[in-house]
Formats: sequence, C-alpha cells, structure tokens
Amino acid sequence: MRRTTLLSCFGAVRPVLCLMLCLLLTACGSRHAFMNGETAREGVLLVAFGTSVPEAQPALDAVDAAFKAAFPQQPVVWAFTSQIIRKKLAAEGRPVGSIGEGLEQLAAQGVRVVRVQSLHVMAGEEFAAMERALLLHVKQHPERFASVYLGRPLLESREDAVELARAVAEDTASLRSGRAALVLMGHGQEHGRAGLTFEGVRAVFHDADRKTFMATVEGSRGLDDLLADLKAARVRTAVLAPLMLVAGDHARNDLAGSEDDSWASRLGKAGIRTLAHLKGLGQLPGACAILVRHARESTDDLTQEPRKP
Ligand code: CO
Repeated sequence: MRRTTLLSCFGAVRPVLCLMLCLLLTACGSRHAFMNGETAREGVLLVAFGTSVPEAQPALDAVDAAFKAAFPQQPVVWAFTSQIIRKKLAAEGRPVGSIGEGLEQLAAQGVRVVRVQSLHVMAGEEFAAMERALLLHVKQHPERFASVYLGRPLLESREDAVELARAVAEDTASLRSGRAALVLMGHGQEHGRAGLTFEGVRAVFHDADRKTFMATVEGSRGLDDLLADLKAARVRTAVLAPLMLVAGDHARNDLAGSEDDSWASRLGKAGIRTLAHLKGLGQLPGACAILVRHARESTDDLTQEPRKP
C-alpha cells in the first residue's frame, strides 16, 4: 500500500522532472536557447574606424548589404571607433554610435547572441583597442548577452590574403591592359605588429602577380621604398588603388590628390604615368565574402574563458 503510494506520487512528479531535465539539457546543449525553448535572438555589430567622407559611402553600403544578405532576420548595427568622426557625423545629422552604443542598441532589440565583425584590414592597433572595448563592455554588463563572438579582420590568414589578391586582380584587370603595374596603398601604423602582417600580405600579393606593389601611408614601408621598387622593376605605368575598406580621405588626398607630396604626384615626377582607381575594398564582393566568412566562423566568445582541448 505504502509502496503504491510512493510510486503514484513519483508518477505525478515524473513529468515535471522530465521537463526540468529537458530544459536543462536544452540550455546546456545550445547556448543560444532560452528556457522556453525559443532560439535566442542573434544580431550583428560591424565595427570600423569610421569615415565622414561622402565618397566612402558606397563601400560602407556594400558591406552593409552583404551582411544583411548573409544574416537575414538579424539586426545589423554599425559602430565607429573614432570619436572625432562620430562627433562630425552627429553634427551632420547622420550619427553612428560607439561600440558600447551599438551593443546597447542590439540589447534593446532583444539580441542575446552578438556577432561582432571587425572591418579592419589587419589586426593592428585599432583591432586591439576594439577588442579591449568589447571585453570591458562584457565585464560591465555580465548578464546582457549569452555570447559575444568576435570575427577577425579582413586579412587574418594567408588564405585570406590569397583570396583578396584574386579579388583585387579581377577588379583591376580591365584597367591594366598592357603592362601597367598595380600600386596599392595600405594604411599601416607607426609602431607595432601590423607592419609585419603587412609584409606578409605584400609577399602574397607579389607572389600572385609580380607587377603588384604595396606600401603604407603611415607604416614603416613608405613611399620611398615603393619608388625604389618601381624603379627596379622599370615600371612606366601604374594603376593606383587603396588597400583600405573605403576610398576615403587617404585614397583621395594622400594617394590620388594633386598636392606635390601625394603618391600620384611623386610617381608622376619619377616618370610613371598613373591612373587612380578610387574604390574601397568594401566594394569588392570577394572582400565582403571574406568578412562574412570570418563573422560566421568565429567561435571566439568573449564572454567565455578561451577553450582549451
Ligand atoms: Co589614417
């Protein structure tokens, strides 16, 4: 009698236990699942240094469209890290938020799983600062997101560089009929690791096409090195293009501007005919494909300890 009571008692409790166990397994099995079984809302945060040059807009629009196509149903929010540029844009009535503001905007839309995609060309100073800002936000709002995945910048691996070299070669092929060289302007930075990454990228591009040359506007490999390379290769004609996400201020002034010290002017003085191709990498479908792939493939969740096998 007593035994029967116990069993029937357990019988009543069992469905509840099952339900609890199911919920527990669901929660553990997929970090993107809510307790009610619904999938957590996901969203994308695109992070760039920023630009206020109107001519840069087509590249930003192309990146935006590529991400909206790759992540349909998800909010795609932009953040610019440069405070000066954010202030300028706000004054012009076309505001773009900071990293913190972008994350807040996503949280307000119910997003629990964020894919942050760096739109930097290489993991230099700006990328490191962005990562620190993200980590600080996660620390300050520990309950806000279930996961914050960080997508690596455009040129992270040798494969990325090979893929981008192909995309750039295709994009410029029709302009280089004959024997025109291709000269690419990277941004670079005065100190730090980006200079080494740049040298790797330069080698990959040069291996793919001996008539592709590269230097930086702010990095350790500058215009004088470039002029020496072009002279040694007896280059007479060159297509100039930015190795940057957008064809903004650097592309329009430092690369193709009419000032005496622009690359176009200096190459002209060295007897090289130039044609400026002012198109940001963001406008190349091949470059957008790399960025989207990095966003999709990232397993680097900033809310968790790094996973060790
Ligand atoms: Co700059």
